[in-house]
Amino acid sequence: MSVIALIGAQWGDEGKGHIADALAAQSTIVARYNGGDNAGHSITIGDTAVRTHLVPAGAFHLQATCILGAGMVINLHSLAHEVDELNGLGANLTPARLKIDRAAQLLLPGHIALDGADEAQLGADAIGTTRRGIGPAYTEKMSRLGVRAGLMAEPDVFADAVRGHVERTNARLTRDYAQPPIDADAVVAEYVALAARFAPHLADTTALVHAAIERGERVLAEGAQGTLLDIDHGTYPYVTSSSTIAGGVCIGLGVGPRHVTRVIGVAKAFCSRVGGGPFPTELHDEAAARLRGTGANPWDEFGSTTGRPRRTGWLDLVALKYAARINGLTEIVLTKLDILTGIDPLPVCIAYSYRDAPITHFPSDASILSQCQPIYSELPGWEENISVAQSVEDLPLAARVYLLQIESFTGVQISYVSVGPERSQVFEVHQSGMS
Ligand code: IMO
Ligand code: MG
Repeated sequence: MSVIALIGAQWGDEGKGHIADALAAQSTIVARYNGGDNAGHSITIGDTAVRTHLVPAGAFHLQATCILGAGMVINLHSLAHEVDELNGLGANLTPARLKIDRAAQLLLPGHIALDGADEAQLGADAIGTTRRGIGPAYTEKMSRLGVRAGLMAEPDVFADAVRGHVERTNARLTRDYAQPPIDADAVVAEYVALAARFAPHLADTTALVHAAIERGERVLAEGAQGTLLDIDHGTYPYVTSSSTIAGGVCIGLGVGPRHVTRVIGVAKAFCSRVGGGPFPTELHDEAAARLRGTGANPWDEFGSTTGRPRRTGWLDLVALKYAARINGLTEIVLTKLDILTGIDPLPVCIAYSYRDAPITHFPSDASILSQCQPIYSELPGWEENISVAQSVEDLPLAARVYLLQIESFTGVQISYVSVGPERSQVFEVHQSGMS
């Protein structure tokens, strides 16, 4: 066994949390490699619906070490709340179990202030970020001004670095955005205390991952966000600021591509997007609401980090095939198939019309994509309740045709299908060894 990459194959919110929870049972390491608390991953522990934001969704499998990898941006204030909440539910995130890579970047209050200020300034062109400070945190990282987690072990140097961050931010906030400055003393005091709490969690997590690989154990790399939000290959600028794709596992955890032997793309049976940016198969009005749900259920399409209603639309096979290629997917896990019950016919997008000519590849260029009209193939729908299905044989013919269409279009087999939110409502389609 080696590294399994679990990747969002669409615009995020594909249901990665539940699948990570299932895969973590056989893993000795569960790791996040990108992003920060912009992620919101849902899992069910007993009767309780839990959301993780920074901690890997596999955290409740107590045999696994939890890693926050070098590619992340970590808000210690959020982490403290999350660790307390998850420990209250039995996660046992001690320094022995939750490891923070020394090279991970810290996301600090100035990043959050700048994220809000940038979005406000963009007005109608706003990206629609989660306002968690993600973009500015990666900006400071790439400018080589960021504060790395490893500095938590040196309180005096750490205090100076945090103060430097606040002063840099205040210069911009007051000069460029006419906003009040952040209180540097208060931030330094809070973060020195947070650093004292989390310094015992510091580790060279790359060494831990490689030791596990050498022992032949399974390492689960949990992606946050989705392929189409990738900083390089997504619909820029309407993207997040990290490498969400399978290649990001190598960067964010420090492993070579040959160690990533399975690349699982999690895709929803339809599409959703939260925030701005092109979305060719987007629906409006009642059809959109039908896919979104009312918000009464935890699985309805409302943001788990921000509560925003998600934009919804039909399955986009052109985009999914792009995700299959960009990530080198070895399998697809299809989630929420049950939501399509009762819709007949079921349109799936198989090409775009761009300037009156059909194209079959996905243009990640946002201005081209925004001019693309979807070309649909209409598949038959089904009326039967599929939420009790335990195998592909239990599905009506039309649902099986839907799965076959996805496999033949993308060239990737579907390994698992989910037909409801419970752990028991996931069944195997093609053998993948997920167990
Ligand atoms: P999970 O891991 C869906 C979106 C935001 C916005 C864009 C940039 O739960 O799938 P950011 O705050 O990252 O700078 O926002 O990315 N976004 C997500 N959409 N699921 C997520 O995470 C997301 N994380 C960020 O809505 O459009
Ligand atoms: Mg989410």
